[in-house]
Amino acid sequence: MASSTRICDTEQWKDLKHWIVMRHAMLDVFYSEFDGMLLDYSRQLATLETIDKLFKLAEAACLKEKINKMFNGERINSTENRCVLHVALRAPRDADIKCDGKNVVPDVWQVLDKIKEFSERVRSGSWVGATGKALKDIISIGIGGSFLGPLFVHTALQTEPEAIECARGRQLRFLANVDPVDVARNITGMNPETTLVVVVSKTFTTAETMLNARTLREWISSALGPKAVAKHMVAVSTNLPLVEKFGIDPNNAFAFWDWVGGRYSVCSAVGVLPLSLQYGFSVVEKFLKGASSIDQHFYSATFNQNIPDKSMATRNNTREVEFVHFGFMPQHLVLLGLLSVWNVSFHGYPARAILPYSQALEKLAPHIQQVSMESNGKQVSIDGVVLPYETGEIDFGEPGTNGQHSFYQLIHQGRVVPCDFIGVVKSQQPVYLKGEVVSNHDELMSNFFAQPDALAFGKTPQQLQNENVPQHLIPHKTFPGNRPSFCLLLPSLSAYNIGQLLAIYEHRIAVEGFIWGINSFDQWGVELGKSLASQVRNQLHASRKKGEPVKGFNFSTTTMLKRYLEKTAI
Ligand code: F6P
Repeated sequence: MASSTRICDTEQWKDLKHWIVMRHAMLDVFYSEFDGMLLDYSRQLATLETIDKLFKLAEAACLKEKINKMFNGERINSTENRCVLHVALRAPRDADIKCDGKNVVPDVWQVLDKIKEFSERVRSGSWVGATGKALKDIISIGIGGSFLGPLFVHTALQTEPEAIECARGRQLRFLANVDPVDVARNITGMNPETTLVVVVSKTFTTAETMLNARTLREWISSALGPKAVAKHMVAVSTNLPLVEKFGIDPNNAFAFWDWVGGRYSVCSAVGVLPLSLQYGFSVVEKFLKGASSIDQHFYSATFNQNIPDKSMATRNNTREVEFVHFGFMPQHLVLLGLLSVWNVSFHGYPARAILPYSQALEKLAPHIQQVSMESNGKQVSIDGVVLPYETGEIDFGEPGTNGQHSFYQLIHQGRVVPCDFIGVVKSQQPVYLKGEVVSNHDELMSNFFAQPDALAFGKTPQQLQNENVPQHLIPHKTFPGNRPSFCLLLPSLSAYNIGQLLAIYEHRIAVEGFIWGINSFDQWGVELGKSLASQVRNQLHASRKKGEPVKGFNFSTTTMLKRYLEKTAI
């Protein structure tokens, strides 16, 4: 496809536009299995023919070439003139991934080795605080990508048996919001003498992070004296001169690079440092290996064959359902992204619910929200031309079964929201009550297995009549069905599986952006609000310091600002 051709003008896109499959429940049941994971696409509003067409669309969008460009270090983030190489962050030591002709993997491992050494010193007590006490408490300051990914992984590891052992006697907290309440929450119960603060910021200019860093610097120096900062504060950044200017010893700074996007940075020092301090490097290394395994599968995918080639599948005709089991095909990772495009652009479903049946994955949805919405919420093509179609999903989610008692009403009988159901075979913390055959985890998983079918098959008025439901209640109790979902069943929630899950989502989101023809790796949409906030900050300063009147804002903002200034006069 020539770069000036819009994907929506291709025959492949138009063909799909005419091919909207609405159907009752499962026609083609198909799933793919690899590394103990089971991906089930049966409940999409798609048949094998749709999938064939989606792969033709992928060819028209030059998907394979775009993936190759990403892995080969081309500057695909054209508006920032940057490579997009988060895959290099978890590549094996002997890999060769180039940015501008230079293999970046040795640099990655140099930082990983430094983190390993430093975290071991802190954990063993050979690195101590200003008063000679071991540092067993970590506060990681950062926001957006410098917060959400590490928080997701930390939350997922917190109840993992091996990780629990490794974290015994230690705690890790995250300070993200500039709201002083978040500062209070973070320092409550913490002792500066035993606390190590990690300031995480790619740019080292983010207003919220820098104010929080100054606040905790004061917290440390007022308790232990200014010299204590050298022992109690370290940093992760691409901007090492600013780290030094802030007063953190450059030897205690952990670098990463401009080819790592903030929301894709959890596998850099952004996540690896705080997580290694808490759990030890060897646990975190397993997480990196899990992500890397998915990278390798994803990179090896080829699309020049008909993917749903039934001859490659094992089949099993039971009832009206035809099971098609493909074994592992790397293309199936790509299919996740293609089906998302199918749901957004062809069916017109704007949202996606991320529903892990695992409390340990409670921070998955907030992390994926950033990865997905900051990446794919764009209005123009990569060439800057306004798109005639919408991109990106509105992602939200909550672990099951909590979500069931919250917003599931809407997804069953209100709007159609494609859902990702994520289940785990083996609980991190199994509970078997005496005399009960169905374990607590079985109870949770019963819901995981039930919900996708409730959405897909629904319940008809006829069924309700057969159950003698009063006539006037039948419309209220009818479930329309035909609501798409995707299921992922993980064997367990080990550090390795958590890494896999992360990479599956990262690549799925990249596939969507590549098909839509946008730049999924910039985020200009966050800038305007930041610069307006800076104008307000300057006004607050000028009004408080010199009594200057509020000016330069519209009537509404002026009124609000005046009220705020009046009521907060010092
Ligand atoms: O405001 C958006 C953003 O730029 C994100 O993309 C990024 O993850 C976050 O801010 C934090 O940026 P930094 O790591 O530079 O502090």
